[in-house]
Amino acid sequence: MSYNTIVFEKEDEIAIIRFNRPKALNAINPEMLKELNSVIDEIEKDSGIRVLILTGAGEKAFVAGADISHMVNLRPLQLRRFSIEGHNLLHRLESLPIPVIAAVNGYALGGGTEISLACDFIYASENARFGQPEINLGIIPGFGGTQRLSRLVGKAMAKELCMTGVMISAQEAKEIGLVNKVFPAEKLWEETMKTAKLLASKGRVSLRAVKECINRGYDLDLRNGCHLETDAFALCMVSPDGEEGMKAFLEKRRPNFQGEFE
Ligand code: COA
Repeated sequence: MSYNTIVFEKEDEIAIIRFNRPKALNAINPEMLKELNSVIDEIEKDSGIRVLILTGAGEKAFVAGADISHMVNLRPLQLRRFSIEGHNLLHRLESLPIPVIAAVNGYALGGGTEISLACDFIYASENARFGQPEINLGIIPGFGGTQRLSRLVGKAMAKELCMTGVMISAQEAKEIGLVNKVFPAEKLWEETMKTAKLLASKGRVSLRAVKECINRGYDLDLRNGCHLETDAFALCMVSPDGEEGMKAFLEKRRPNFQGEFE
């Protein structure tokens, strides 16, 4: 399927979504939200995809936020719907059973930071900029910025970013734990692909279990989180990938994970 506001590609088992409205710095409009939902439908149905990477088309931006020229014309209930649609999309992205990497190659502002927060982790180029500048427009984040950001970097840092609206560099974003790694711009793609290939070589069932345990466990108390881990651990042990992984170790060979679990 082809899209207007995004480009969807596959390189073997790695799927890539490029936000593709470079003239508007890849700002998110309703068409992009709709197309992102369709592409997630595609990804959910394709068991051959093992890793997803999100990045921005063009030189300047990952995503520079929600499209202000669209939002400015909306009435309160329409704005509420726009925010709900953004939240629903990001919940879907966060719940994908495969690893999702944000390769942030420029401005990731407002909705751009919020999208990257719904990914499993963020790699950034040295020229990336993060921030929640909505306060400068007299509004607040509407796609989860006040929620996911505080869970990741802590309440005080999230408040500082959302209250001041200042942009931070990739290096500052790494220092506060928002970004995992920073690379020179020309190396970002190569390094992201390297990690994506590494992830694609792992057991699909155990990758999914790690993701669910960390994501769901984060909102639980420690004892219940550990309980969740115990069940997932036991299930992974008896999955074909678990059996293959341990057999391969004992036979001193590389495992050949199939990712099936019936
Ligand atoms: N919504 C709609 N259009 C946007 C946009 C957004 N969030 N961000 C950038 N654009 C458009 C600009 O209007 C401009 O369009 P034009 O060429 O038709 O005038 C184009 O993208 C290039 O942006 P410009 O502002 O000229 O680039 P810059 O390098 O001077 O500044 C930014 C880059 C990211 C600092 C600046 O565009 C910006 O502050 N954008 C808004 C960020 C924001 O507030 N996001 C949260 C929205 S809720």
